[in-house]
Amino acid sequence: MVASITGGTGIGGVRSCRLVDLEQHKDERGSLSVVESERTVGFSVRRVYYLHDLQPGTSRGGHAHRSLEQLIIAAHGAFTITVDDGFHRASHQLLQPGVGMYVGPMVWRNLSDFTEGAVCLVLASCHYDESDYYRDYDAFLRDTRGTS
Ligand code: TYD
Repeated sequence: MVASITGGTGIGGVRSCRLVDLEQHKDERGSLSVVESERTVGFSVRRVYYLHDLQPGTSRGGHAHRSLEQLIIAAHGAFTITVDDGFHRASHQLLQPGVGMYVGPMVWRNLSDFTEGAVCLVLASCHYDESDYYRDYDAFLRDTRGTS
């Protein structure tokens, strides 16, 4: 599957990773941020999940996906996301609910440095499928670099 976001700001040359500015509506009552399937992100959103009640010092992720596309948002608080396509690695702190990071296929990601009460919202292109995961970094590297 081809990564379907081409706009936005690239992340350190890492394949198919982009910062995406979300549509926002702010008034005296507060703020409303919008993600529309096939508009804000190129993919159809088939799954939504969120990480919360995160324990201090914990890290999440530590995997890549063969074909899944995701938009990752700090819905509350902040955290650092490190993305790695096997050739380039970059870290970025997500800290505004109005900005998400698009992460396409074949990108190893790690989430860390969660602030207290942080909530990480993830919109995903497919239903949960364990067979889509790389959970072994060396296996991911072999496949993404095309080495045996
Ligand atoms: P895990 O991949 O370790 O989460 P993270 O990437 O945030 O560190 O997933 C934790 C558990 O939740 C694991 O048993 C798989 C399960 N899970 C689902 O059942 N459905 C889902 O959509 C996701 C993302 C995870």
